[in-house]
Amino acid sequence: MWDQRYATKEYAYGTEANEFLQENVAVMPKGKVLSLAEGEGRNAVFLAKLGYSVTAVDSSQVGLDKAQKLAQAHGVSIECIHADLTDYDPGLCQWDGIVSIYCPLPALLRQKMHSKVMAGLKPHGVFLLENYTPEQLGYGTGGGNSAETMITAQAIRRELPELSFLHLKELQRSVVEGRYHTGLAAVVQAIAVKA
Ligand SMILES: C[S@@+](CC[C@H](N)C(=O)[O-])C[C@H]1O[C@@H](n2cnc3c(N)ncnc32)[C@H](O)[C@@H]1O
Repeated sequence: MWDQRYATKEYAYGTEANEFLQENVAVMPKGKVLSLAEGEGRNAVFLAKLGYSVTAVDSSQVGLDKAQKLAQAHGVSIECIHADLTDYDPGLCQWDGIVSIYCPLPALLRQKMHSKVMAGLKPHGVFLLENYTPEQLGYGTGGGNSAETMITAQAIRRELPELSFLHLKELQRSVVEGRYHTGLAAVVQAIAVKA
């Protein structure tokens, strides 16, 4: 599905970074950042332009090819890893930051990924997430039609018990990020740090 979605010249979620990431990037320690389900590269390129060393993981090769093109166009380099997050192992204490922007994993896989996030962050490393909450199903402005791939603030706190939350909030906001994220939406945002 994702390869098909990305098989156009247009960037499905635009080429500008996610707004929540843009507003909060200063909390991310400089160094190595892992971007989960990066897609076509908008967030990875934004981070690389700020001097982060960025690794982008996604299961869509078409998306990652566009991510590399976007990076070239901006004169930065990013590492792209073509992998399903089911199998991807970010290692232990490797990352100064991990970013998860609209990463649509089913609950069981997401829980496993969040365990790997806790293990993969260095001490003082920061995790930053934005995703839809199940309330989004009533908005019809993006995120598909399965509550399975959406998440609540409560679930985020439960799945990341080793992190301290600096910010954890469900809210309505206008998300205008490409053709597929197009209006008032029900989202959850999190910023958490590893002790
Ligand atoms: C809604 S898009 C968001 C892309 C990007 N994070 C952004 O905000 O522009 C969701 C992305 O998740 C990726 N994805 C979905 N399931 C995945 C999985 N199991 N492993 C790796 N990537 C996955 C898709 O390929 C797609 O690029």
